[in-house]
Amino acid sequence: MAEVEKRRGSAPVPHEWTYAPAPESREIVSIHERYGLFVGGEWLEPTETYTTLSPASEEPLATVAQATPTEVRHAVAVAREAFADWSALPGSERAKYLFRIARILQERSREFAVLESLNGGKPIKESRDVDLPLAAAHFFYYAGWADKLEYAFPNRKPRPLGVAGQIIPWNFPLLMLAWKIAPALAAGNTVVLKPAETTPLTALLFCDVVRQAELPPGVVNIVTGDGSTGAALVDAPVDKIAFTGSTDVGKAILSRLAGSGKKLTLELGGKAANIVFDDAAIDQAVEGIVNGIYFNQGHVCCAGSRLFVQESVAEPVVDKLKRRMATLRVGDPLDKNTDVGAINSKAQLEKIEELVAAGRDEGAEIYQPPCRLPERGYWFAPTVFTKVAQSYRIAQEEIFGPVLSVLTFRTPDEAVEKANNTPYGLSAGVWTEKGSRILWMAERLRAGVVWANTYNRFDPASPFGGYKESGFGREGGLHGLAPYLDGNGGDA
Ligand code: NAI
Ligand code: MG
Repeated sequence: MAEVEKRRGSAPVPHEWTYAPAPESREIVSIHERYGLFVGGEWLEPTETYTTLSPASEEPLATVAQATPTEVRHAVAVAREAFADWSALPGSERAKYLFRIARILQERSREFAVLESLNGGKPIKESRDVDLPLAAAHFFYYAGWADKLEYAFPNRKPRPLGVAGQIIPWNFPLLMLAWKIAPALAAGNTVVLKPAETTPLTALLFCDVVRQAELPPGVVNIVTGDGSTGAALVDAPVDKIAFTGSTDVGKAILSRLAGSGKKLTLELGGKAANIVFDDAAIDQAVEGIVNGIYFNQGHVCCAGSRLFVQESVAEPVVDKLKRRMATLRVGDPLDKNTDVGAINSKAQLEKIEELVAAGRDEGAEIYQPPCRLPERGYWFAPTVFTKVAQSYRIAQEEIFGPVLSVLTFRTPDEAVEKANNTPYGLSAGVWTEKGSRILWMAERLRAGVVWANTYNRFDPASPFGGYKESGFGREGGLHGLAPYLDGNGGDA
């Protein structure tokens, strides 16, 4: 065990408290040695492969396919073939399959949660209590719409688009799969989905659910691989691309698809402002700040990564925050007591380290609570920067790690001005006792979601998506159905 340097002047919290290990058993999951491509309800032997790891231990978990452009085009052709029958089914029949998938996910949720934590590094309590329940909830929610499309879009004859190509990231692997597949299928489309290269395993286990639910072959196809596989899917003859990931790749896809007639939705990065006014309930706000940035190691597009505190309460808020940070337990993702797990990949860890070094160099003050980080695997201690200027890279760029930048403001106008001073616009948080102030702020913040006196709350009925460089199109709710339908009157 390597010990992170202890900093003096840390808050007087008994950080030496030890917890008995409470590991969740891995036995519930059986990982195959090798996975192929899931196309037409069958496993196809891939031409190329790579190894997927556990980021907490760097232990290899399985060999998975690196799908080539030819293989991707084949998957799209199979999805095209399946589209005729699937789209002709009555909505109530499609709903039955979606309800089945939702129930199977609930039944097998412990298995999925363990696998998600193993392959992605997130704490088991998060995959168990957040990712899995929400993934099932999405299937339940969209199952309910499948036979009500005419009511959802009255007088518009909603029709499915055809084959949807879906590319997802590694921060919420199964949940992003659910966000993508559930509305697409409810609307009558078939899909080819590409998981992120570092986290393919829950998507591959989902293929088992698809079979168990007896979904007609070819309705859901899963092709694993890296960015080149994603690019091949963008270029394949699909009718729509739904992408969640980095703004850079989103921009590349946008220019690639210009003039192609393919529909596109993009859910990209963020640099959310979490704004604490002096009349807020401070302890509650501190919990919200912690949840906003340390949840899922900060690998969250809507993470509250810029904290704006009203100057008059900045000192007590930052003090309490540091004290609270010292109680966060960093370590084994499969331990039920773990609050902060492993960083998803070496590449992501290097990106975090680079930006944190830039923060120090530019003159911000860093605080990390004393904590022991395991020797193997990818880890980063929860970090907060104070004395941050708006021009610093740590205030501008998405770090996508457990790193918070604290800035201050004096008036509500200044808070709005500073919060909106970003190329992104995905989410924001407001902490105040005054209802009128919440509404005043929500009206002015250029963000797709504004949370009031809470943070990182999700519900399948509530649309989610961004402004500006955070992308366009909405997922969740009725809004999330529209991008999978023609004739809905709104082009996403
Ligand atoms: P990425 O955007 O490269 O990866 C996301 C998905 O896109 C993966 O499935 C990847 O294989 C695929 N992809 C990569 N290049 C592609 C291409 N040219 N065409 C089609 N698909 C492609 O994100 P990456 O490199 O994993 O992370 C870099 C940064 O992006 C992170 O540090 C974070 O700031 C941001 N990010 C934001 C996410 C969000 O939820 N908004 C999710 C993941 C990353
Ligand atoms: Mg990338």
